[in-house]
Parts: sequence; structure tokens; C-alpha cells
Amino acid sequence: MCLTPKTGRMERMLEIKNLSVLRIERKKSVPILNDINFAVKEGEMFCLVGESGSGKTSLALSIIRLLPKSFKIAYGEILINGKNILGINERSMRNIRGKEISIIFQDPAAYLDPLFTIGTHLQESFHGKMANKKELISLALQEVGLDSEIQTVYPHQLSGGQQQRVMIAMALINKPSIIIADEPTTALDVLTTRQIISLLNAIRLKHSPAMLFITHDLELAMEIGTRIGIMYRGNIVEIFRPGVQKPYHPYSKILLGTIERKNSKLVVGVEKNKFYNEQISQVCVFFDMCDEKEENCKKIIPFIWHNNETGVRCIKSGRNTQV
Ligand SMILES: Nc1ncnc2c1ncn2[C@@H]1O[C@H](COP(=O)(O)OP(=O)(O)O)[C@@H](O)[C@H]1O
Ligand SMILES: [Mg+2]
Repeated sequence: MCLTPKTGRMERMLEIKNLSVLRIERKKSVPILNDINFAVKEGEMFCLVGESGSGKTSLALSIIRLLPKSFKIAYGEILINGKNILGINERSMRNIRGKEISIIFQDPAAYLDPLFTIGTHLQESFHGKMANKKELISLALQEVGLDSEIQTVYPHQLSGGQQQRVMIAMALINKPSIIIADEPTTALDVLTTRQIISLLNAIRLKHSPAMLFITHDLELAMEIGTRIGIMYRGNIVEIFRPGVQKPYHPYSKILLGTIERKNSKLVVGVEKNKFYNEQISQVCVFFDMCDEKEENCKKIIPFIWHNNETGVRCIKSGRNTQV
């Protein structure tokens, strides 16, 4: 067990080992996530980037154990501060959710109950000592740039940006060691997006949680991520450090090319439902789309680590990838 000398907390606050998830559909199982491995350390902003349908939300929901009933974790471990949460009961898991790990979703309006005030939402999220409740709620609001008076209003009286700030305050209130943000700015305008991103980054710098930031926007990830994981059809095909290494995987390079050409439209799409109608592929997951494929790629490609923290699921991974 590795603890950080400064704070005494677990260094790898979130660790995912060999995670595979299936969806059971009319007695057939279809792969959703395949052999996912990575860890997020204290103070890190690990950005998970992938197209719609690549499995990002399924991964987030696996981590907080809130997958829909038709989904099944087939294999693997999810360690939160060193504890495998796949082996614990729902009551213990409820204790971990909110206290040790929080999640911020894409559409705050869908998660705020219109019948209850913001104050009630914040109180319901609080799991600490009652004596500190009022003070910690005010502090959380202050931290996300909202006035304490906002507690008396109802969700529909707030703008999208304010609603998302409330969600972030709810996520922060118990000082969790892990924060997951699943496309937290998709429903917001450009200016509000920038403000929310700066807020999340400021929170990371101040409290050093392990942050898992999920987005389809590689350009944004390149800007804020300390590491980036690229997802394609339920697989993490590459993990790299932006600004330190160039991504190597042919799919990552195509994604990067779309930014460099200032063309946000993807040239490689996942054919609708393709992945989910086939069994786990016996060839490289990117084989059909890859311009660089060789005969050798017609096999299951393992994720090849360059070191503990970066690596690629491509057969040509030995090449130099420094910037
Ligand atoms: N509630 C659900 N019921 C059935 N299939 C689902 C459900 N949620 C997601 N899926 C399927 O799981 C796959 C991964 O989806 P998801 O994790 O939401 O991807 P992403 O967040 O990257 O867009 C997709 O094929 C999607 O259609
Ligand atoms: Mg999603």
C-alpha cells in the first residue's frame, strides 16, 4: 500500500484492474467495457476521452456501482482508496458514495428535484457531523462562487451554470478523495463552460482529489488533463501525458489531427451498434478503421505499458513517442 508522505492518503485513490462489463440482452451478453486498467492519483486530472457510445458513462457508473440492472460486471476490481468496492454490500457502498467518491453529471437539471430547495439538496448530500453542517454547506457554496442565500430558492429559478455549481457544491461537501465529472459542461454555453472548467481545476489544485474528467472533447482534455485515456469501443486504447508525449495509437492520432486541422468533426465514427452486436473481437479493436494495420494486428492486442502510467494498445508501441 503506497501512501503519499505529504497527506498520508492513498496515492492511487482510484484504481481499476482488468474491468470487463457486459450487457445482458435477451439472454445474449454484449461487451460494453473490455479489460480496463488505470489508476488515478491524488491531485491528478485524468481525462477520459471518447466518442459517444464508447463506454465512458458505463465506466463512471461502474465505479460508483450504479450501472443499470441489465449490465453486469463480468470481471475485474475497482479499488477506492485501496478497497475493492465490488466485494462490499450496498449499505457499505452507500457510505462510500458521497463520502469518498462523488460524481457530477452532464445535465444538472435532471438530478435536482424541482420540489426541493437548493438548501434541502445540500443538506441531503451532507454525511458529516451535524454540528458542522451549516458551516460546511456555506463553505461549499462559497467555494463554487454562490451566495448562501441561494439555499432558499428552487432549482428552476437558477441558470444552467448555477445549477451545475450547486451540483459541484454537493459533490464537494463531504470532501471526497475522488471526484468524477461526466461531461459536466455539455449542457452549458461556451462562457459558462470555461467558468465551470476553471472552477473544477481550482478545486483540484486546492484539495488534491483524484479527478476523473470525462469528455468527448480532446482539445479540452489536452488543455486541462495531467493524463489522458483514449477510449474506443469499450477499450482504453492509449494513456498518455499531454505536452510530454505524443499519442501513438492510430485512433488517438486521428482524434488529434481533427484538432490540429481545426475540424471538430470526427472522421472515424463507431458504426452504430457495431460493437454491441459482436462478441469480444479476436483482432485489434481498431483493425477495421486503421490505415497502419499489419497482418500481425489480427490478434487480441494487450495494453502495453511504457511505465506504470502511460501505454498503448497497439502492436507498434515500441516506437519513440516523446514530443
Ligand atoms: N441504460 C442502457 N440500456 C441499454 N444500453 C445502454 C444503456 N446505457 C448505455 N447503453 C449502451 O452502452 C454503450 C456505452 O454507452 P455509454 O457508456 O453511455 O457511452 P458514452 O458515455 O461514451 O457515450 C452504448 O452502446 C449504449 O447504447
Ligand atoms: Mg456518456
